[in-house]
Amino acid sequence: MARFFALLVGAFLQAATVALAVSVVESSTLYTFSNPLVSFDVVKTTGYIRNLTFNGTDYLGPVSGNAGQLYTDFPSAVFAITNNASSQIVSSPTGDWAGIVLTDNATDVGTLVQRSWFLRESETGLHSFLRLGYYNTSGPALGSLGESRTMFRPNSPLWTYLVTNGNQWAPAPGAAALADEIQVQDATWYLGQTPDDPYVVQEADYWTKYQFADNQTNKAHGLYSPPSGDSNTSYGAWWVVNQKDTFFGGPLHIDLMVDGIIYNKQSTSHGGATSPNITAGFDRTFGPQFLYFNQGANATLHELLADAEQYADPEWNSAFYDEIAPYVVGYAPSSVRGTFSALIHLPCTGIVPGTQPMAVLAANGVHFQDDAFDPTAYQYWAPLDATGRVNISRVKEGTYRLTVYADGIFGDFTLDGVVVRAGQNTHVEDTWVPESAPGGYGALASRRAG
Ligand SMILES: *[C@@H]1O[C@H](CO)[C@@H](O)[C@H](O)[C@H]1NC(C)=O
Ligand SMILES: *[C@@H]1O[C@H](CO)[C@@H](O)[C@H](O)[C@H]1NC(C)=O
Ligand SMILES: *[C@@H]1O[C@H](CO)[C@@H](O)[C@H](O)[C@H]1NC(C)=O
Ligand SMILES: *[C@@H]1O[C@H](CO)[C@@H](O)[C@H](O)[C@H]1NC(C)=O
Ligand SMILES: *[C@@H]1O[C@H](CO)[C@@H](O)[C@H](O)[C@H]1NC(C)=O
Ligand SMILES: *[C@@H]1O[C@H](CO)[C@@H](O)[C@H](O)[C@H]1NC(C)=O
Ligand SMILES: *[C@@H]1O[C@H](CO)[C@@H](O)[C@H](O)[C@H]1NC(C)=O
Ligand SMILES: *[C@@H]1O[C@H](CO)[C@@H](O)[C@H](O)[C@H]1NC(C)=O
Ligand SMILES: *[C@@H]1O[C@H](CO)[C@@H](O)[C@H](O)[C@H]1NC(C)=O
Ligand SMILES: *[C@@H]1O[C@H](CO)[C@@H](O)[C@H](O)[C@H]1NC(C)=O
Repeated sequence: MARFFALLVGAFLQAATVALAVSVVESSTLYTFSNPLVSFDVVKTTGYIRNLTFNGTDYLGPVSGNAGQLYTDFPSAVFAITNNASSQIVSSPTGDWAGIVLTDNATDVGTLVQRSWFLRESETGLHSFLRLGYYNTSGPALGSLGESRTMFRPNSPLWTYLVTNGNQWAPAPGAAALADEIQVQDATWYLGQTPDDPYVVQEADYWTKYQFADNQTNKAHGLYSPPSGDSNTSYGAWWVVNQKDTFFGGPLHIDLMVDGIIYNKQSTSHGGATSPNITAGFDRTFGPQFLYFNQGANATLHELLADAEQYADPEWNSAFYDEIAPYVVGYAPSSVRGTFSALIHLPCTGIVPGTQPMAVLAANGVHFQDDAFDPTAYQYWAPLDATGRVNISRVKEGTYRLTVYADGIFGDFTLDGVVVRAGQNTHVEDTWVPESAPGGYGALASRRAG
């Protein structure tokens, strides 16, 4: 009993005679979103996405368990999908985008999970946000958020290559290799019993998904399918990391990965990372991230990756994000953002040639790797140029610690209390006097050498 969703009508009576750019069709169990190239179903009760097609190709495959779906989960069980989501369909007056905001309020605990997805007329991908809240003044602190992740989890032979970035990629281990794998430890297998497997030939005798994890400088990571059989078409599916400011841990934090699933990790405790303590009043919106689909005649892995990486820019689509901000509670629109610039007089010697010092703005008063200690903190970074200058745009108003670190220099430059105001530039000029390390690594090494 499918029917066209009536939202676009109202002020838009001619809608019936115009092919809608983005259509939303409701059935008793699903909403089906589609534009001319992308179509997907959202399950009303859970918010899970299925039956995702791009340009006529099935990108997720059939549902089997959790596979064949695009969804968010919480392995640390601090938040929960209730299977009783309420949903709001939203759209632009001209029909050039539509979206869904799904809300799971676990009323026995007081937690709130909101996932929102937006599809634009002319784009081959979905914009994703996740809001997590905890509203219970009489309830206990829920402890560390731990892992929160949104996953593109296909169940399809289409996808044969795992792509972390332009340097780290490999064919996924084949079925025979997986059948003969020997578990070594958690999430780690020996595959040396199938030496001709394409993964073993290119990558290693051992497999762990953490081989395919990148730090948060990542621009896009995903899955690739080369031409096969009679088809000359290559396919790609990518999480574009177009915004990093709502993640935690700064540029060095490593957990954006692909292992057959493409993960968008909002938070993790992998590698000893800090994640926020969920106490009453916690409310954070992560995103946007863009799940992007592409294809090309004989396109190489690097060509499709580069096509995805072009969108990994916080300026990209900022006007669209401002337009949908009224529906994405917690998203910081342009009106609350300013810019930052700095000139740091760098140490004259010591910086490893060919490397660039990095400037990071993150939670005030703590190391940026611990910025989750302030669950309201945002984070930004960019390399300094050779003269020690850096610009960072779209910084949310607030008070930050500026950190500069460089390969070859012991310790960091830090400056607390850097205030960024909406609509203004904050400029810092300072001199980095490196800490000395008497008896440190250099001295120890020379003693050893002697
Ligand atoms: C949608 O997915 C379900 C479960 O995998 C499958 O049974 C159904 O045929 C799919 N529908 C379409 C239109 O592809
Ligand atoms: C499901 O959510 C609705 C509100 O959206 C609420 O009225 C209803 O009690 C909930 N049902 C269950 C089983 O939690
Ligand atoms: C869910 O909880 C939030 C926070 O308490 C509240 O603002 C919102 O109205 C609730 N939504 C639903 C659908 O119950
Ligand atoms: C708050 O937490 C307490 C203890 O877990 C629970 O009994 C109560 O139902 C929660 N209240 C709300 C409004 O979620
Ligand atoms: C979270 O905060 C509560 C309340 O301040 C505190 O008791 C608890 O130890 C904290 N937990 C973690 C994991 O930091
Ligand atoms: C972060 O990742 C990039 C891309 O993989 C890499 O070039 C860089 O060295 C990494 N930084 C650190 C500190 O590991
Ligand atoms: C792929 O390329 C080959 C060689 O040019 C051609 O014979 C074949 O028809 C092409 N297949 C498709 C589906 O275009
Ligand atoms: C869709 O597929 C057709 C051929 O089947 C191709 O010509 C076209 O470029 C594809 N569109 C995109 C956006 O990849
Ligand atoms: C794709 O590559 C095949 C094999 O090299 C070639 O025969 C075919 O012409 C190419 N097709 C296109 C559209 O470039
Ligand atoms: C920073 O922005 C200023 C003003 O737009 C520009 O002149 C300068 O080249 C930029 N510096 C860097 C390091 O990007």
